[in-house]
Amino acid sequence: MSKTQVLEKISKQPASPGGGQGGPTAIVIAGATGDLARKRIFPALFELFTNNLLPQKLKIIAAARTKHTDKSFREVLNETLSRKNEEFLKLIDYLSLDVAQNINLANLSKHIEQFEKITNSCTQRIFYMAIAPTILEKAVENLASNNLHLGCPIHHQQNTKSRIIIEKPYGTDLKSAQSLGQKLLQYFNEDQIYRIDHYLGKETVQNIFAFRFGNDIFEPIWNKDFIDHVQITTAEGIGVEKRGEFYDKTGALRDITQNHLLQLLTLTAMEEPEKFETESIRKKKLEILSSIKELTFDEIPKFSVRGQYEGYLAEEKIASNSKTETYALIKLFIKNQRWQGIPFYLRTGKKLMGKVTSIIIQFKESGHKLYKNFQDTIPNHITIQIQPNEGIGIRLAAKKPGLTTQLEPVDMEFCYKTSFDTPQPDAYERLILDVILGDQSLFISQEEVEASWKIIDPIEEVWQSSKSKLTLYKPGTWGPSQADDLIKADSRHWLAPLLTICKI
Ligand code: BG6
Repeated sequence: MSKTQVLEKISKQPASPGGGQGGPTAIVIAGATGDLARKRIFPALFELFTNNLLPQKLKIIAAARTKHTDKSFREVLNETLSRKNEEFLKLIDYLSLDVAQNINLANLSKHIEQFEKITNSCTQRIFYMAIAPTILEKAVENLASNNLHLGCPIHHQQNTKSRIIIEKPYGTDLKSAQSLGQKLLQYFNEDQIYRIDHYLGKETVQNIFAFRFGNDIFEPIWNKDFIDHVQITTAEGIGVEKRGEFYDKTGALRDITQNHLLQLLTLTAMEEPEKFETESIRKKKLEILSSIKELTFDEIPKFSVRGQYEGYLAEEKIASNSKTETYALIKLFIKNQRWQGIPFYLRTGKKLMGKVTSIIIQFKESGHKLYKNFQDTIPNHITIQIQPNEGIGIRLAAKKPGLTTQLEPVDMEFCYKTSFDTPQPDAYERLILDVILGDQSLFISQEEVEASWKIIDPIEEVWQSSKSKLTLYKPGTWGPSQADDLIKADSRHWLAPLLTICKI
């Protein structure tokens, strides 16, 4: 988003008394010494700061259990930022506290009030909970017991309600997600809760919307009559790295499929929302998530594959007999007019051949009359490449130059790099800015979270039972051979990474 667009967006926000969107803001980052804060949140804030996109009156309070002074924390942070910037570091104070044990939260409250006093303002308070999901409910209770959910004490009847940002995973199954949802809604209204799925902040993911609903030519063919199937892939070359403790309890299905992949499916399949605003978008997304057919216990072994990369058991903080999957493939169907009978293959894995996230839509082959004698027809595809080398490609058949008539597949590509010379903001930059501006359209609703778990829970249940086999695969491959067998049994084959586009 360009600065002009952001400023336009800010100018459309209603002014709120004594603070609010774009106005005086206090951001508390709980879990400030963790991986997420270090790798994603602070760098995103830093980029926003360097582009003058943060509110003028701003305090960032880094909070975690580790003992630090402002100075020592700023020094640590300085190491991780791409460039040195004293002005940015000065915005950040450090408070040692334990949000799960309610230690020193009263001090946090005082710290924010002090900033409000100095700046003579009532800040928009934002609590970014970059903490382990296991302590989240407790942390929310503790914020509330210190009245931190209420917002600025002087004006809180007047519109500066605190905002809370939470990160996936939202629970570990439907039941725990419901319990977390209830806990949050006990203290915050839905419009104060920002559930992040960082994939929704990615530029190309938002372009799915523009591509589908900003171009009239696709709508007539975006359905079961023309589309054969859809493949959604998130492959990573890296393994679990330092996140063994979290990952071993989570697995690929809960880590990626339940959120990122189901969100990508939703954006691909949803109907056009009436308006470009939170409620309309959420409504249409929920319609799709609720119409995904839940797999039966008998279908699950046939419609899914789970794998683990060789060497996973030797990784740090992984149980020696772990059965956690690092690869997950599921085949889903949507029960509605548009998509009846069309399979959506969702697959993800770590330590695969490389990093790629893409949505590939394969169209049906109609057996063209004119070319049927020359060679097999070549089905058309649309590739939406989310990363790397972001872009959209359409695979077409073209006549190969020469005296014979032969068809060859060619790609028509739109690549971000060559079409636009503006750098793409990182997903976290956009999402954090949206929280500051109070725009929830790229955040997930509680209903979406629950609908997603309803699809995942039965699969997890079968996967945990003896009915399901965990297959080992070699690092650097495309996962277990069973995944190839599954798609071959449907007379299809994997298209990613074959259809990788924008190879620049
Ligand atoms: C996170 C997962 O949500 O997404 C990680 O917890 C994964 O396991 C990461 O590595 C991938 O994100 P990206 O933006 O690099 O595709």
